[in-house]
Amino acid sequence: MDGSANPVTLRPLELQDADVIAGWAADRDFCREADWTVDLPINEYRRFHQTLIQSPPPELIRLGAIHEGLLVGYVDLHGDDPHRRELGFVIGERSRWGQGLGRLAGAACLDYGFDQLGLQEIWAEAVDAHQRSVHILQRLGLVETGRGDRGVFLDQPTYYRRFVITAKDWASGRTQ
Ligand SMILES: CC(C)(COP(=O)(O)OP(=O)(O)OC[C@H]1O[C@@H](n2cnc3c(N)ncnc32)[C@H](O)[C@@H]1OP(=O)(O)O)[C@@H](O)C(=O)NCCC(=O)NCCS
Repeated sequence: MDGSANPVTLRPLELQDADVIAGWAADRDFCREADWTVDLPINEYRRFHQTLIQSPPPELIRLGAIHEGLLVGYVDLHGDDPHRRELGFVIGERSRWGQGLGRLAGAACLDYGFDQLGLQEIWAEAVDAHQRSVHILQRLGLVETGRGDRGVFLDQPTYYRRFVITAKDWASGRTQ
């Protein structure tokens, strides 16, 4: 980010957000790219997300990404280490992809993790074949640390790439 206000903000998810999130899953291509189970009845997606919103596992912090008043995605900070968590992000629905919302949501999440949670380090991984995700991590200034396990993306074999950013590096990037 260049220091100007981020048009994507974060807020806690509310129960009715599960309806919106379940709506994204009606699109098979969205599910395939997001690695969600394809072709479940919409009620199952809704119940799954309602449960996660009402009783998230202790290691998951998930926040809604809001743009122009609408829920356009969510971000995750995952893990039980008090100093270090894993970043994740989803933008829905698919028609919103390619407009910079993923990067902005990721930036808002890094702000939250470092400023509100006081984390020292945030890491992430993305499969090499998932170029959107890799680009976002690179544009956010995460540094590649190495190769993770083998993976699959859109039925093709690929491998995970690991990235990390420290609180100090994020703060210095924001002031540039
Ligand atoms: C990954 C995801 C969050 C991206 O959201 P988005 O709003 O489209 O992301 P942005 O528009 O901010 O950035 C996309 C980047 O990919 C690039 N990109 C877009 N389409 C691309 C394509 N077909 N191939 C390669 N790169 C592409 C864009 O140019 C941009 O990079 P840049 O900023 O260097 O120009 C979204 O596709 C999504 O929710 N996918 C499903 C969930 C998921 O896979 N999450 C990531 C794992 S945690």
